[in-house]
Amino acid sequence: MDDAGTENIGTLVVLGATGDLTSRLLLPGLGRLLTEQPRRRIRLIGADLAPLETRQWTATVREAFASAEAAGPAVDHALDHTDYLVTDASSARDLGRVLAAATGIPALYFALPPAVTAEAVGALHQVDLPTGTVLALEKPFGTDRDSAAALNRRLTSLVDEDQVFRVDHFLGKSTVLNILGLRFTNYLFEPLLNRDHVAKVEIVYDEQLGLENRAGYYDRAGAMVDMIQSHLLQVMALITMDAPQSVRAADLRTAKAEALRAVRPFAGDPVSASRRARYTAGTVGGRPLPAYVEEPGVDAGRGTETLAEITLESTTWRWSGVPFVLRSGKALGEARREIAITFRPVPQLPAGLDGRLEPTVLRICLGPDAMVLELNVNGPGDPFVLDRGRLEAQFGAGRLNPYGEVLHGILERDPSLSIRAEGAEHAWEVVDRFREAWRSGSVPLEEYPAGSAGPPTWRS
Ligand code: BG6
Repeated sequence: MDDAGTENIGTLVVLGATGDLTSRLLLPGLGRLLTEQPRRRIRLIGADLAPLETRQWTATVREAFASAEAAGPAVDHALDHTDYLVTDASSARDLGRVLAAATGIPALYFALPPAVTAEAVGALHQVDLPTGTVLALEKPFGTDRDSAAALNRRLTSLVDEDQVFRVDHFLGKSTVLNILGLRFTNYLFEPLLNRDHVAKVEIVYDEQLGLENRAGYYDRAGAMVDMIQSHLLQVMALITMDAPQSVRAADLRTAKAEALRAVRPFAGDPVSASRRARYTAGTVGGRPLPAYVEEPGVDAGRGTETLAEITLESTTWRWSGVPFVLRSGKALGEARREIAITFRPVPQLPAGLDGRLEPTVLRICLGPDAMVLELNVNGPGDPFVLDRGRLEAQFGAGRLNPYGEVLHGILERDPSLSIRAEGAEHAWEVVDRFREAWRSGSVPLEEYPAGSAGPPTWRS
C-alpha cells in the first residue's frame, strides 16, 4: 500500500512486447518514470508471439531505457526482474501462464491491434484474474461505436470500470493538461470561453512524418481514426467541458464524457463539414517521400486519407454555433500542432485608429510547448496605427514524457487520464457520422504533394 492507501501494481505485462510501440514509446516512458521514482519496484513481463529469449528481451528493454536516459535503483530492479514469455494473446492458456508468472497485482497492457485486443479480452473470460487486475488498452479502442460498445461490455464483465485504462497519450502531455490549469485557475479566459466571445477554435496536429513503415496499422485507421478519434476529440472535450468539481478521476472523466456527448458535425452535416486528402510524392524537410499509395503494405483501393479535417459543434448553451475545426495530417510541409482560439472582432474600431484590425488569438502550442496571446496594440511608430503584439510563454518539458505519465496512472491505479467507457463511445459516434458520409462517396478524397500545406483548394 502507498501513503494514499491504494495498492500499486506489482507486475506490468506488455502484450505485443515486440511491437514498435513497445520499444519506441512504452519502454522509454517506463524508463523515465522509474528514474523519477527510484523507490518504485515493478516486475516487467514482455509477452508476444515472436520466439524471443528473456536475454534478448532484456537487451531491448535496456536499450529503450538507455534511449530515455533512464537510470537508478528502480530501473535496475526492473531490468533484474524482467522476463519474456512466448504468448498467443488470444489463448486463455497462454494468458493464464503469463498471469501465473506475475507477482503482486498485475496490469495487462494491450499494445496490440484492436482485433487482437478484442480476442485477448474474450480469452481472458476463461482465466482467473487476480483481484485488482488492471487492463490497459492502446488506441484505437475498437473500430467503430458498436465494436467499442461491445468491447466495453466485455471489459466491464471482467473487471470494474476503474480498472480499465483506455489509453490516450495526448492526455499525458503536460501542455494538454495545462488546459485545465489555464481555464480553471485564472479569471482571465474562462468568462470569455463561450459563444458570445469566441469566433472559432482550431485543434490542429499537422505532422511532417510520413507513414514510417506503419502501413499494417495506419492503412486501416487513416488520419481520422489515428488522430481525430483517438486524440483530438479528447482535447476538444478539455476545451468545451464545464469546470469539474475536482480533477480526480470521477469528476474529470464525467465532465469530459458530458462534453463529448454534446459534439455533432457542424450544422449537423458531415458532408459540408469535412474534407479528406492523401499525399502524393514530394519532399518534406529535404527528405524525399514516395506517394502514400506507393508505400509498402498500402492498399490504394482502401482510399485511406492521410489528412482529415472536420468541423464540429458543441450543442450546449455555452458553445452552440461556434465552429471547432479538428485537423491532422501526415507529410505536411510544416508541423503545426496547436489549439488556436480566435476571439470575435471588437464591435467597432474607435475613429482615428488606423491599421489592420485582426482578431485576438490564444494559441496553446503542443510542441514546442508554449502559449501565445496575439493582440492588437498601438505600434511603436505612429501611436494611432495598430500593430500586432505577442505575449508568449514557453513551457519546459513535463516531469515525465506522455507515456511515462500514462504508465504512472496505470501503476498507481489512478484512471484520471484514461478515457471512460462512454467517453470512448461518444467519440466514435462523432467520427462514425463522418466515416459513413465518406464511405458513401459524398466527400472526395483529394490529393496534396508531400511537403505542401495540403490540397491547394483548401487554402483559405
Ligand atoms: C500517435 C499516432 O498516436 O500519435 C501517430 O498513431 C502520431 O500517427 C502520434 O504521429 C503523434 O503524437 P506525438 O506525441 O508522437 O507527437
